[in-house]
Amino acid sequence: MKRGRITGQAKLAGVLGHPVSHSLSPVLHNYWLEQRNIDGAYVPLPVRPEQFAIAVRGLQAAGFRGANVTIPHKEAAFALVDEPDLAARLSGSVNTLVFSEDGRIQGSSTDGFGFLESLTADGVDLTHLRQQGPALLFGAGGAARSIATALLEQGFSVIISNRTEPRAHALVKDLSQAWEEHTGNSAPDLSVQPWATPESVSGDISLLVNTTSLGMSGGPDTAWMPDLAHASENLVVCDIVYIPRETPLLKAATQRGLVAVGGLGMLLHQARPGFRAWFGTETTVDAATIDYVSDAL
Ligand code: ATR
Repeated sequence: MKRGRITGQAKLAGVLGHPVSHSLSPVLHNYWLEQRNIDGAYVPLPVRPEQFAIAVRGLQAAGFRGANVTIPHKEAAFALVDEPDLAARLSGSVNTLVFSEDGRIQGSSTDGFGFLESLTADGVDLTHLRQQGPALLFGAGGAARSIATALLEQGFSVIISNRTEPRAHALVKDLSQAWEEHTGNSAPDLSVQPWATPESVSGDISLLVNTTSLGMSGGPDTAWMPDLAHASENLVVCDIVYIPRETPLLKAATQRGLVAVGGLGMLLHQARPGFRAWFGTETTVDAATIDYVSDAL
């Protein structure tokens, strides 16, 4: 594919991270820019934590439209923004910055949106699913928090199970507090289930999400696998891991005839709100986009 011309009016954005060389965001955004023939560019920005605030101000001063923020800057980004959206306030983190013309910085957390969109794109009916039973999330890190928030907003009951149980309780306490503070609603339906090996998935669970690095290439070297023997035949199984595309958990789900959704869709869909804000155009995650990004994995 031919690279479009970048002129003096080019719209600029990028991704701040440390390290950032592994990020797929430049591949994805520049693909969308080329496809849509937009005069713009999206660049990787390796920035040390102690330089984060100054780098953001520098981008703003240099006329960038905004930026994505990845590990380890998501919490620092939240602290820096003037206008965090609800998902950002609930998660305490920001992955998308938009610089307004009046000098203010808008921040959003789009991981939860990306997760829900990828499920919907794979044909999952969320309304129907939440009526069937609670969602069970493995893990209690930043990804679990974003996904739990998004599911609670959709009306799901959410159960968190984490190897380090106090971390699961901390997530529940913290998110419940933020939820009451920012939504004005009473405590969400969020609880903890002990971590056991193998994790047994009971028949009332409608949605199972692995938010840990278990099953990832180069991740923890363990044969971890939840026991799906008692799971509902309508269970939807998701893994936010996207390398490999088909994780052991997704394979096991497919073998049982369950709907299995991998992590690449979440990664691609979470990028859409930023692209729209910076470059003024909607995007789609079609088969060609998935193939293009998969080639870069
Ligand atoms: P992220 O922000 O991407 O969610 P994180 O905060 O580092 O990343 O969280 C990683 C998750 O993977 C945690 O839930 C972690 O469990 P602990 O809180 O017990 O550390 C989980 N995880 C990582 N390695 C694991 C392993 N070998 N077994 C079980 N869980 C593991």
